[in-house]
Amino acid sequence: MTQTIAELYTQRFGHDMDAASGDDDANEVITTLLSHRTHRRFLPDPVPDALMEVLLACAYSAPSKSDLQQATVVRVIDEDKRQGIAELIPGMPWIGAAPEFMVFCGDSRRIRRICARRGRPFANDHLDAFFNAAIDAAIVMQNLITAAESRGLGCCPISVIRNHATRVSEILQLPNWVFPVAGLCLGYPSARAHVSMRLPLSATVYVDTYDDEALERGLDDYDHRRHARYAIPDEKQKYVEDYGTAEFYGWSEDKARQVSKPERDDFGAFVRRQGFLLE
Ligand SMILES: Cc1cc2nc3c(=O)[nH]c(=O)nc-3n(C[C@H](O)[C@H](O)[C@H](O)COP(=O)(O)O)c2cc1C
Repeated sequence: MTQTIAELYTQRFGHDMDAASGDDDANEVITTLLSHRTHRRFLPDPVPDALMEVLLACAYSAPSKSDLQQATVVRVIDEDKRQGIAELIPGMPWIGAAPEFMVFCGDSRRIRRICARRGRPFANDHLDAFFNAAIDAAIVMQNLITAAESRGLGCCPISVIRNHATRVSEILQLPNWVFPVAGLCLGYPSARAHVSMRLPLSATVYVDTYDDEALERGLDDYDHRRHARYAIPDEKQKYVEDYGTAEFYGWSEDKARQVSKPERDDFGAFVRRQGFLLE
């Protein structure tokens, strides 16, 4: 049965929509976006080629900074290459198992080659060149995700490939000025995942000025709402050897523990080796 926007909203945030501003004019795009969930388990059924082409066309219909079109997708079809990447990340077996796996790359190489072809200097060799390409790649990926979910497919973005950026780039032969933003597993889900509850809009959307108090007002309630819907089991508490087993282990404790350990701190060096100045 189709859910209303109000029902999907409650599912997403764990509290009801503000009745005064209620808008229940659902359409397929809105329903798809509000229903988003990441999927990590897939049926073996392949994604038909014709559908892949449609999804990629949707992906590349995303807006692009200055129309520079700085996203490149590498579909990983070769089984050795796929397993080469999967073996780097044994804790995420869906990378090797999903029917489709692709890598979304920021690509500042194309425009630099175009400059060389046209005999023009590339005069923007600074942090923004990297940033713009990363954003283009990210929104191309998101468009693909939305299109795929609207056709009953499931996706899992994989930023952990950046923990192995050098090796992944070797496997995919990514040249200078090209870098992986995220992988993406794609396929028909074998089971429907749950909807992950988000922070309330009052904690993330401000009016006119940044509101540093908003987090304080919303966080504890969010932790408890989320815990009530799907509590993180004790065995999934992170770094108990350092922090012990918490009696109440909410989202904020989980995320604070997650980022308390360094991860991917060599990524900047990798990006510089790919030719970016990042100044
Ligand atoms: C840029 C990006 C990178 C991600 N990387 C990974 C990853 O490496 N492995 C994974 O299992 N999930 C990954 N995810 C999925 C997130 O864990 C997921 O989006 C988050 O838990 C919220 O859940 P939801 O997408 O179901 O709402 C990534 C998501 C994004 C947007």
